[in-house]
Amino acid sequence: MSRSATWTPAAIPSQAGRLAVVTGANSGLGFHTTLGLARAGAEVVLAVRDVNKGLAAADAVRREIPRARLSVERLDVAALDSVRAFAERWGGRSLHLLVANAGVMAVPVRQTTPDGFELQFATNFLGHFVLGALMLPYLRAASAGRLVTLSSLAHLSGRIAFGDLQAERGYQPWKAYGQSKLAMLMWALELERRSAREGWGVTALSAHPGYARTELMTTGPNLGKPVPALARRAVRWVEPLISQSAGDGALPVLRAATDPTAQAGSYWGPAGFMELTGPPEPARIAAHARDEAAARRLWDESERLAGVRWG
Ligand SMILES: NC(=O)c1ccc[n+]([C@@H]2O[C@H](COP(=O)([O-])OP(=O)(O)OC[C@H]3O[C@@H](n4cnc5c(N)ncnc54)[C@H](OP(=O)(O)O)[C@@H]3O)[C@@H](O)[C@H]2O)c1
Repeated sequence: MSRSATWTPAAIPSQAGRLAVVTGANSGLGFHTTLGLARAGAEVVLAVRDVNKGLAAADAVRREIPRARLSVERLDVAALDSVRAFAERWGGRSLHLLVANAGVMAVPVRQTTPDGFELQFATNFLGHFVLGALMLPYLRAASAGRLVTLSSLAHLSGRIAFGDLQAERGYQPWKAYGQSKLAMLMWALELERRSAREGWGVTALSAHPGYARTELMTTGPNLGKPVPALARRAVRWVEPLISQSAGDGALPVLRAATDPTAQAGSYWGPAGFMELTGPPEPARIAAHARDEAAARRLWDESERLAGVRWG
């Protein structure tokens, strides 16, 4: 792992003339990624499932950066109709950056999407995979198009359950989350290989924020059954010691999205203790995430499940 001088957003080169889409841009890391990109001059489409939340987030960005060029588009990544509708409305503009950020974590009870997929698999991974496939022509049309996926430390313990991707034979909240975040990292690595082979000209990277204080810790776990008071208290005590702000958590994403020296297929995360906090540097990729045969299988299976073809 290289440890260079601390990277800060001041190192982001001008993004003027570049167009970015950030999914889940209304909150947490997505919001701070949008803020950082807008500050560097990029035009950003806030792709959100709740347009009112998106408009409020755009207003908050404009309060800090009055010249920000922003628009808000409806996108529910957990519903493939919504993903297709987003791509159909796109209008043919070149897309320089797609940040696949939206996500839910550790939903306590198994839930399914309108398409019948397990909610974490569909939200965190499959919907974004389809979005990437449908936006590929616009990423290819841009000079130096990039796609950044949001993975997690949870990928280290994650496994792709090929025999039961939708957790129909036994659902465990963290197992499903780990699988979805491992899938996000494997997708980026496989996309990089395919892009190089097929000459798509799209650079794929991945990032994780360590442990960032966002709404992720409450939104997912609150979907289905209440979080026990003891667990809530424990999180309140321990969290400040091992976590960082959402703004700092977004730095690995911003670095993956903009650093001209970031290698294709690289993975970025906080450089501090156990990659929980700290400045953005190359992060540890678990050996099983580098399994190329498994990545090809996941890709093919995802194309089949969603009825899409890349390229
Ligand atoms: N925070 C961490 O420590 C951490 C660690 C590792 C990885 N991550 C990853 O970072 C990403 C961002 O999470 P966060 O921490 O910033 O959490 P957050 O504040 O809860 O933000 C999640 C965002 O995803 C959106 N979202 C959820 N389901 C969606 C759907 N079906 N369609 C469109 N948007 C949807 C949410 O929209 P609503 O506001 O409408 O719910 C929200 O904007 C996630 O992929 C997460 O797995 C976070």
